[in-house]
Amino acid sequence: MTDNPLLHAAGLSKAFAGVQALDGASFELRSGEVHALVGENGAGKSTLIRIITGAIEADEGSILLDGETLSHLTPQEARRRGIAAIYQQPQIFPELSAAENIALGCERGGLWRLIDRSARRRRAGQLLERIGARFSPDAIASDLTMPEQQLLEIARAIGADARLLIMDEPTASLTEADVENLFRVIGELRDGGAGVIYISHRLEELPVIADRVTVLRDGRTIATRAMPEIDRRELIRLMVGRELSAVFPKREIEPGVTALELRGAGCTTSGVSDVTLELRAGEILGLAGLVGAGRTELARMIFGLTPADEGEIRVHGEGVRIESPADAIRLGIAYVPEDRRRHGVIAELPVRANTTLAALDEFSRYGFLDLGRERDTAAEYVARLGIKTASVDAEAATLSGGNQQKVALGRWLATKPAVLILDEPTQGIDIGAKAEIHRLMGDLAAEGMAILMISSEMPEILGMSDRIAVMRGGRIVGLFDRAEATPERVLELALKE
Ligand SMILES: Nc1ncnc2c1ncn2[C@@H]1O[C@H](COP(=O)(O)OP(=O)(O)OP(=O)(O)O)[C@@H](O)[C@H]1O
Ligand SMILES: [Mg+2]
Repeated sequence: MTDNPLLHAAGLSKAFAGVQALDGASFELRSGEVHALVGENGAGKSTLIRIITGAIEADEGSILLDGETLSHLTPQEARRRGIAAIYQQPQIFPELSAAENIALGCERGGLWRLIDRSARRRRAGQLLERIGARFSPDAIASDLTMPEQQLLEIARAIGADARLLIMDEPTASLTEADVENLFRVIGELRDGGAGVIYISHRLEELPVIADRVTVLRDGRTIATRAMPEIDRRELIRLMVGRELSAVFPKREIEPGVTALELRGAGCTTSGVSDVTLELRAGEILGLAGLVGAGRTELARMIFGLTPADEGEIRVHGEGVRIESPADAIRLGIAYVPEDRRRHGVIAELPVRANTTLAALDEFSRYGFLDLGRERDTAAEYVARLGIKTASVDAEAATLSGGNQQKVALGRWLATKPAVLILDEPTQGIDIGAKAEIHRLMGDLAAEGMAILMISSEMPEILGMSDRIAVMRGGRIVGLFDRAEATPERVLELALKE
């Protein structure tokens, strides 16, 4: 152990109106280590990070870099000292190209000063290649998919040549191949002497990538351990302060009528083709595949965002045309997109309004909003999903990342649709709430809802689904019953060229 850690955060406290986000938390990072930071949604992880990067100032406590106290740290100063971060909420400039976005993170001076554009492009290309991204440096950021944007942010942070690299849930929307690439690069940075703070709700990643782990709970540091010395169970106990039971409470439900049926359906513009699929009431159908396999595109097609232009779609046995989300909603189809970080909540609206937004019809009578019922419903979902908020009247922007996602999910659950499409439902959600969401999905299926669940987490796919469809290249390439699906079989189909 070195005497002087790279970073020492000591006794940090931070309160926001009525919420004690950090309460005397401490954290230490050495050079050449990957240090995981874990805790439930709202534990204070992002707040700690924002203090270290100079985005906000602590009420109390100090930050030492190489033993030197940093006071009144600004983001510019943090960057100058070699601190770079990938934030939980995307910080990409949508109208700029990938190369320009990367340049913003690494080049000193403004983006518009005289520069060698081809050198910038080349450098961006190398960075993107290094992390295994398969899009061009010229791609406009807003045209990239969510996982691609995440890779772009990673490339930008790595390009900054930081000595202290902070990653707030970098893998939330990445698939296993991308994660593997990312871990390789993180390993190289560590070997080069950088210190890495790694935040993730995917606990299974930690033994692979982290040297040590620190657990935060309610804004306090609960423990710091060497990763090999702690097992998953102990980690969870430290995070939630109690033992957690079965993670996948799969219930056996007799499937009912066919709620949704696709026959040779496809959408030329989004590359989905020849999809034949049946989804029955009470059934959870898992949609597996790699990023880019067309799973989100299929969901968007069913929801009318990119309408089908071939084949047939039937809802409750009747042929339908779904030309817009309004059509889909009218037919009882709801869609919770993966991109909840951006489109999930309306930041300025209170939690209460965010929860009931999708079911507005139900909450307004003769054009007047029934505020009492809105509050009740919001309160119900806040309790069911364990949403950590000062009250249902708090602005959504004040919630932690994971808690915002729970609000977005609650909003669609509150509409009680016949067909519910969930794209990565538990991404970024902590382990306790995850079990709760899985239980809720089981309840909804038992009530007769048909659920189509896209997930990149193999345990979630295998644990929750009655049947599993595997996609590759915009097509369904295999369908398994729950009993016959294994991780190897699913992966093999997803990968096959
Ligand atoms: N600007 C703000 N105003 C009010 N409360 C805030 C604000 N920012 C954070 N909080 C509160 O501080 C607490 C800690 O939030 P933080 O974002 O640090 O959690 P987290 O550990 O990163 O959680 P997650 O895993 O969900 O990302 C939460 O209860 C959150 O609601
Ligand atoms: Mg956070």
